[in-house]
Amino acid sequence: MEGLKHQAIGVLNGNWKDEVGFSIPCANLYPFQWFWDSGLIAIGFAHFDMEKAEREIKTLLDTQWGNGFIPHIIFHTESDTYFPGPDFHRSDLHPESSKKYRSTGMTQPPVTGFVLEEIYRIAKDKSAALNFIESVIDKVYFNHQYFYENRDPQNEGLVYIYHNWESGTDNSPIWDDIWDTMNPPEYTFERRDTTHVDASERPSKREYDHYLHIIDIAKDHNYSDEKIAELSPFLVQDPLFNAMLIKSNESLMKLYVLLGHDEAKIQQLKKWQEKAVMSFNKKLFDNELGAYVHYDLRNERPLRFLSSSSFAPLYAGIPNPDRAASMVKIMLEKFGAEHQYLCASFDPDSERFNPKKYWRGPVWVNLNWMLYNGLKAYNYNEVAERVKKDTISIIENNGFYEYFDSRKEMHKNGNAGYGGNNFSWSAALLIDLLER
Ligand code: SER
Repeated sequence: MEGLKHQAIGVLNGNWKDEVGFSIPCANLYPFQWFWDSGLIAIGFAHFDMEKAEREIKTLLDTQWGNGFIPHIIFHTESDTYFPGPDFHRSDLHPESSKKYRSTGMTQPPVTGFVLEEIYRIAKDKSAALNFIESVIDKVYFNHQYFYENRDPQNEGLVYIYHNWESGTDNSPIWDDIWDTMNPPEYTFERRDTTHVDASERPSKREYDHYLHIIDIAKDHNYSDEKIAELSPFLVQDPLFNAMLIKSNESLMKLYVLLGHDEAKIQQLKKWQEKAVMSFNKKLFDNELGAYVHYDLRNERPLRFLSSSSFAPLYAGIPNPDRAASMVKIMLEKFGAEHQYLCASFDPDSERFNPKKYWRGPVWVNLNWMLYNGLKAYNYNEVAERVKKDTISIIENNGFYEYFDSRKEMHKNGNAGYGGNNFSWSAALLIDLLER
């Protein structure tokens, strides 16, 4: 395993941009800084280069807007290998956007809180780690405040996402039902992703029309949260996104206690947390499916599909033991057949399942890492070990790819890794898994 770890370190160092202090997810396909990538990458660096881990997070938090928002892509450099770039997104339209960084006007799963806790856990020098955390933690708190004050129109403790790119699970089949409610114009544009990666592994042109149209609506209103809540055809309470926020709330509370201050913030976090967990369990658990599902806030209906996001709440300690048991049973029955690696990103029994296409079926290392940790926390040690073993095998067999075919039979020739290669979070989280 030392060889694999060594390779992973090489991937991370190779994607590090020292002049600015951040990592690209991978060359060509993703040449900028991404919010949740950045957070997860810092966990990997923390094991062998704490300075880079801290700089990664510092740079990310430095891009925060005046209202607490943190964007999903920060365009640190010029690059013509990615579409849509800064001239399409136009973050400058928002009155409180960063004057220093060009970015998108949407966000991504708020991982930063729990990443700080991971950095503390991994650090050998705890007091240096606490000093670092002290210097950034209020920005993360401010980000959570942004979410609860601007992304929860019905005051439920659950925040919405207004774009599929905010979910991180870009082209999940779950969104198909939302695309059915829309009829965007046919855009003319030049895709860049499909010049780096086979088109069969990426979203379709028509899907991109929907993605661009939602951004255009938001831009028409200068990315006003209020207007977006009123008008965006995509408005979803996502169990993965909300689980990340809840997990990060928990971490912030623990870290403020360790730092020994900010009782008022701890109390506020507690309030957010109680409400969030209660609503999450009440609104997003699907008794029939036995796991959590997405809720379409625009059309007021649950989107009743199983995906790896359905199990992510295990990582945030959201289900009670009975529900956790039902989730693990469903995960094993539906996603855990002998011929499948855990955990496909979408229900392998569904006719929408596609084990090669991005978030429509392949296995992703970041979700597996969360599931591993969640299963451990609920004492499902055997299943957790299987997730860990599967994750290591798919990387060993194919390389540090972005995502992997869930079907074991496809892995015989070492070409079942898809999307970008030398992908940062696959390397970062592998390092963390190997250390456990
Ligand atoms: N992952 C998206 C893309 O494929 C953006 O976040 O471009």
